[in-house]
Amino acid sequence: MSVIREAISRAGQSGHGLRLEGVPTGVAGLDALFYRVEFSEDGPRTCPLGGFPRGAAVHVTGISDTGKSLLAEQFCLAQAQRGEGVVFVTVESPAAFVDMALQQRRLAMGIDKDAMQNIVIVDAAMHDAVREDLPTFLATAKAALEEVKARHLVIDSLTGLYEAREMQARSIVRRIYQFVKENGLTAVLTSQKRSGHEELSAEAAGGFAVSHILDVTLVLAKKIVLSAAQSRLWHAPIGEMVRFLRIDGSRLCGHDTRTHFLTITREGLLQVGPSIAAEGSGQ
Ligand SMILES: Nc1ncnc2c1ncn2[C@@H]1O[C@H](COP(=O)(O)OP(=O)(O)OP(=O)(O)O)[C@@H](O)[C@H]1O
Ligand SMILES: [Mg+2]
Repeated sequence: MSVIREAISRAGQSGHGLRLEGVPTGVAGLDALFYRVEFSEDGPRTCPLGGFPRGAAVHVTGISDTGKSLLAEQFCLAQAQRGEGVVFVTVESPAAFVDMALQQRRLAMGIDKDAMQNIVIVDAAMHDAVREDLPTFLATAKAALEEVKARHLVIDSLTGLYEAREMQARSIVRRIYQFVKENGLTAVLTSQKRSGHEELSAEAAGGFAVSHILDVTLVLAKKIVLSAAQSRLWHAPIGEMVRFLRIDGSRLCGHDTRTHFLTITREGLLQVGPSIAAEGSGQ
């Protein structure tokens, strides 16, 4: 048994250098849902954060085709546009397909081609060792971070890193979380929910491991309008698909807790709409 001195620090001393600020998400309507509380003589006041809290590991979960990859791509491009390096680790689609999707998203977002030089793609879909051996994954991701002095990391998806070994999900996600923190990154990490899970809950494959470890959880969902009541509530005809987004939790800052409509524009961009409660009451 030994004492790990580095694990011990005094409260009020180890948080220096950390500031609560927003990282624009690249998704219209999403940045406004995060806020911080400022304390002055007049009392506490909420101020918009303007995006994900910097330094957060953000978990984006949902069943298939709910917009997780679109969100990951838009986040990636928004950082590149601001001149900040970003590493996109693809675990599902091969790199060439992600590159094509990023180009589509870039055009839709009206971002200059030069921004692409701030993005490095790591192909864990076609390279089994990167996907299946965690030390190889971390070493490859680290080399990619250094290529563009990246401040951001996207992994689409975490689930692919523990396919067929969900018992290890917790330790894999924990190690990736530490990697995000060690490297001072803001990260968007997607995970797939099984369709059997309640749609708007944060439970993802690997049980609750992912949401418990990561800092912020966003749940994306889609539902088919099946009744007149749903049709009235969601302002959509029976048979149409309606998309939703909800922030399930954020350890680092305040956030909107309502369920919002989510749309995908004709150009293929995610956009967060009003809360379903606001629509229902005519606000
Ligand atoms: N360019 C586009 N124009 C219109 N709709 C699009 C466009 N691109 C994607 N979509 C729609 O957005 C949906 C969500 O796509 P996305 O790839 O982000 O899903 P996902 O949540 O990552 O799914 P999976 O878990 O299967 O990876 C697609 O199924 C499609 O219906
Ligand atoms: Mg996807």
